[in-house]
Amino acid sequence: MRETFSSSSGFALAAIGSAVGLGNMWRFSYLTAEYGGAAFLVLYIALTVFVGIPVLLAELSVGRGAGKGPIDAMKHFGGKRWSLLGVLFVVTGFLILSYYSVVAGWTARYGWESLVGSLPDNPASHFEQISQGIPAIIWHLGFMAITVTIVASGIRKGIERTSLIMMPILFLVVLGIAFYGSTLDGAASGYRYYLDLNWKAALRVEVFTAAAGPAFFSLSLGMGAILTYASYLKKEESITRHALVIAVADFGVAFLAGLMVFPLIFALGLSTQIIGTVGTENDVGSIGALFITLPEAFKAMGSSGYWIGTLFFLALSLGALTSAISILEVNVTSAMELLSWSRKKAALLSGALISLVGLAPAWRIEILGIMDALAGNIFLVVGGFALSLFVGWKSIESIRNVDLSPRLRMIWIWLIRVPVPIVLSVVTFYSVMNL
Ligand code: PHE
Repeated sequence: MRETFSSSSGFALAAIGSAVGLGNMWRFSYLTAEYGGAAFLVLYIALTVFVGIPVLLAELSVGRGAGKGPIDAMKHFGGKRWSLLGVLFVVTGFLILSYYSVVAGWTARYGWESLVGSLPDNPASHFEQISQGIPAIIWHLGFMAITVTIVASGIRKGIERTSLIMMPILFLVVLGIAFYGSTLDGAASGYRYYLDLNWKAALRVEVFTAAAGPAFFSLSLGMGAILTYASYLKKEESITRHALVIAVADFGVAFLAGLMVFPLIFALGLSTQIIGTVGTENDVGSIGALFITLPEAFKAMGSSGYWIGTLFFLALSLGALTSAISILEVNVTSAMELLSWSRKKAALLSGALISLVGLAPAWRIEILGIMDALAGNIFLVVGGFALSLFVGWKSIESIRNVDLSPRLRMIWIWLIRVPVPIVLSVVTFYSVMNL
């Protein structure tokens, strides 16, 4: 018998755990600040509602309906040729995890350094030292080892249990720090920088296309992570309700992350370091700026900074971990099904292979940037595009699970048939041109 998540909340927290991760905490708030504040939020919400949620529903339905991982699920509904889309999902997940765990490794290291009180005096050169080469490799391998251990322990004992413990901690910490931030002197200018309404900055094609990739990444769409989790979901659960809960929680944490980060930075007068770093050609630069600016803020805050910094990086590491296990699960489920491996063997071997490939992005940050631009942006959008064509036009059978009212269902099907693929192909075109 195939395992299932034991409870509705267990599944919900695991799927939210997949969605909430580094994408929410690092990328979202800076994109918002850069691209028009509240105006960008409107755009992002529209993308989530009209593109993200429809694809989310599609993944949930295909996964639950087939009760199989991506390759077998696509084969189940679409025959041999469509199983290639499942292969694309697996490859994308493989590549994303190989560099995601490098960034997660930096994060965990910062958490550790805050805890033992050894955050450096010069964060910029410290980041340069630890983000590449041997130090990055060591933390990458450590992070992968934990990820493999959890996934090897199974859906209930590994993934569900981990998410049930870690996600509430993450929510509490994020809420707590955002609240603390609101009491600081710089809070108002931080919020203003974050949310200042600027329609001119938001209403541009580049912004639209720059937002779509991160929206997909943040919702864990386009590579079968949600599909795979849904294949372990009990038949009586409502897919629609889960889709809404996942999307709202994902957006909520992303939004809160901005409310937590900017007041801290502005309270300490460090704002000049971040303005103009995001959305320029090299987005990895913005990740770096965050690993540099925030630690500096924590350091400058003295003893409260010690706690805030430690909790902040702890929450971020937990978010990264619950996302990483969902990505590894795509590979593990597929290896178990295709090669009839045991879960332990599948987790160990695919984890080892991913760790090996991850040596490259750990070695050089430029490689990490390229992998993110390809797998973390373009492949996801292409995967979502192909999946919407599939469920919209090829296999109505695959979306029987979607428990919407007849009217909403019709709207959803037409969204996924025409506007969603059009939007995603335009986005792909722009991203390829911008490579
Ligand atoms: N959604 C995760 C984040 O925001 C990353 C992720 C992408 C997880 C794709 C699974 C699949 O960090």
